[in-house]
Amino acid sequence: MEKHKAYIITGPTSGIGLATALELAKHGTLILVGRNREKLESVQKQTGNAIPVVCDLSDLTSVKSAAREIIGLQVPIAGLLNNAGMMSSKAAKNAQGWDLTYATNHLGPFALTEALVPHLPDGCNVVFIASAIEDPARKPVKMMGMKGGRYISAAASAAGKWKEGGTKMPGIDAYATSKQCILAAALAFARENPRLHFNAIEPGITRGTGLGAADVNAFVHFLFGHLMAIIPPFSRYSSTPARSAKVICKVLTDLSGKSGLYYNEKGVPMRGSDEVMDPIFQDRVVAETRALLHEKS
Ligand SMILES: NC(=O)c1ccc[n+]([C@@H]2O[C@H](COP(=O)([O-])OP(=O)(O)OC[C@H]3O[C@@H](n4cnc5c(N)ncnc54)[C@H](OP(=O)(O)O)[C@@H]3O)[C@@H](O)[C@H]2O)c1
Repeated sequence: MEKHKAYIITGPTSGIGLATALELAKHGTLILVGRNREKLESVQKQTGNAIPVVCDLSDLTSVKSAAREIIGLQVPIAGLLNNAGMMSSKAAKNAQGWDLTYATNHLGPFALTEALVPHLPDGCNVVFIASAIEDPARKPVKMMGMKGGRYISAAASAAGKWKEGGTKMPGIDAYATSKQCILAAALAFARENPRLHFNAIEPGITRGTGLGAADVNAFVHFLFGHLMAIIPPFSRYSSTPARSAKVICKVLTDLSGKSGLYYNEKGVPMRGSDEVMDPIFQDRVVAETRALLHEKS
């Protein structure tokens, strides 16, 4: 066991993050970043050798204080996994008055990463859990009537406004746009900063997690997860938390120096939407996000 290495993982208390924490614990010390101390301590008991850091990723004040706490630990960081995320059919606002989904899935991980980057050692791996829902041309996305990321600007997204022509399914444009932005940022960071390695992963349609579960009853959630796993074409893209964890750990502990890649649920490089693969779009998302965060700091 490589105990001299430490890995930061956000959202380790459920689903893909919990499975990844259990797997990642074989590679070193874990810094468990989540919003609920009791849940973090329960994961800490399961993994051993872990340090809990309480952080609500939707709240920028909380993100800044968590970043300071992590830097103050002065442990040798080998990897940062931005995994925490949420999806909700009800629009809500964060502590700064911004769209909660956009703040949790894009602004929070973006701010956490930017605060930590200067303190990460050369060659450190930074991984973002994205989602193929951002790509309107992807088969399962089209079949479900979703329209992909609907980015206008970072300020518009923070205000809960999405490009016209989106889906009628509540909460999906917010989720898809947040994932479009964090994927664009990951790819831009990789070009901007060759000292570190930035990659993203689409974990697949992963059943048995808590994503969106608060919005539907347990039976619908179970049925939906199960059908997705067996009915083509969804079954082709389906995964489980344990399988996702293997792929994520492989990318997070990779020493080959690969950067700027976006992996699918099998760990094979894939393409995002045409928009997200465009470096001009990626740089615009990063510049607009920085400007928005600067405004509030
Ligand atoms: N499941 C899928 O099919 C799928 C597909 C593509 C991408 N993803 C992405 O995979 C990642 C993990 O999702 P999952 O499916 O494993 O869902 P999950 O079981 O609901 O896990 C989400 C994790 O994020 C944490 N979290 C949510 N909001 C937070 C906040 N404001 N501050 C700090 N932590 C917060 C949760 O903490 P609590 O335990 O405190 O709630 C939990 O640990 C997400 O980024 C998701 O978008 C999932």
